[in-house]
Amino acid sequence: MSSKHVAVVGATGAVGIEMIKTLEKRKFPVGKLTLLASARSVGKKLKFRGEEVTVQELTKKSFAGIDIALFSAGGGISKEFAPIAAQAGCVVIDNSSAFRMDDKVPLVIPEINGADVKWHKGIIANPNCTTAVALMALYPLHQAFFVKRIFASSYQAVSGTGAKAIEELKRQIEQIVNGLKVTKEVYPHQIAFNVLPHVDSFLPSGYTKEEMKMENEGRKIMHHPTFRASVTCVRVPVYRAHSVAVSAEFEKPATVEAAREVLKKAPGLQVLDDPAKNEYPQPLFWAEQDDCAVGRIRRDCALDNGLAFWVSGDQLLKGAALNAVQIGEELLR
Ligand SMILES: NC(=O)c1ccc[n+]([C@@H]2O[C@H](COP(=O)([O-])OP(=O)(O)OC[C@H]3O[C@@H](n4cnc5c(N)ncnc54)[C@H](OP(=O)(O)O)[C@@H]3O)[C@@H](O)[C@H]2O)c1
Repeated sequence: MSSKHVAVVGATGAVGIEMIKTLEKRKFPVGKLTLLASARSVGKKLKFRGEEVTVQELTKKSFAGIDIALFSAGGGISKEFAPIAAQAGCVVIDNSSAFRMDDKVPLVIPEINGADVKWHKGIIANPNCTTAVALMALYPLHQAFFVKRIFASSYQAVSGTGAKAIEELKRQIEQIVNGLKVTKEVYPHQIAFNVLPHVDSFLPSGYTKEEMKMENEGRKIMHHPTFRASVTCVRVPVYRAHSVAVSAEFEKPATVEAAREVLKKAPGLQVLDDPAKNEYPQPLFWAEQDDCAVGRIRRDCALDNGLAFWVSGDQLLKGAALNAVQIGEELLR
């Protein structure tokens, strides 16, 4: 396979760093790597395959000669620069929410709708991280039993908010341990030793934008226009890996045994479900893992044809960097 000139936009961020590591780990055919970030990071050096690559400032001229650009510098940067990059002949794989619901942009989880990359017109969107982790377990069950609706609560790690939020949790823990006043910069309330039922901004309906992504993006990725999802997104003082508790109602009867068989065969997913041995997925142990994990699989006692389950997955990987690189691999297939 011919090697590609790849750019990472937002290379110094929580996702960008993981993108660089993932390109290396998966032996993506990178001929040249260009690292782009804001003017603040110019001259900073990041390692790729044992060599230092210098970070450059993102400008409108950054994309000449680049084949694939992985964007993770926020929605505003994607809206401004992704069309410029696509115009320059480069394929953009975008981690922000800027283009996810655009009819002209495929929204892809390779294990679910990898074939959708084929109809891209220069930009391909990576899904919301909580949606990606939940769908890794929900989609195989949907294929077997046809999901009608879900009720879910998320337990989202601070790294989902980016590098500054990781620092905020560390700093607040130190402040509390040392008896100092807790300071807040990223979240509206203290996150250390607390949980916030608030991820993203509130909509007039009372849901947050993050909560509605599960239904909207889930419909597009699963090609399931009537899928419904009522979700409460919660930020928890976990550094890395999101978890989602899901109650799903299916069209067809779904037994726990049949669900387990389906999930055992699902790509990118491991079943860890032995309550007698206290075995279930925990974010602490699924951080830095490519696969997501599902457990606590049981009949939902409040739904007809319902199953309840719990999924954990590294949102910086399956919810962002890994999924983006997998989309790149799908493109080159
Ligand atoms: N964190 C996650 O789990 C996750 C999951 C899925 C999707 N995403 C999405 O990925 C994107 C990045 O998230 P993150 O968590 O990595 O955030 P982050 O840690 O705050 O990193 C942001 C990155 O964007 C760069 N940037 C900011 N302003 C810029 C500008 N004006 N020009 C060029 N580069 C600029 C930053 O560069 P400097 O260092 O120079 O400021 C940094 O590299 C967001 O759109 C987010 O929604 C994040």
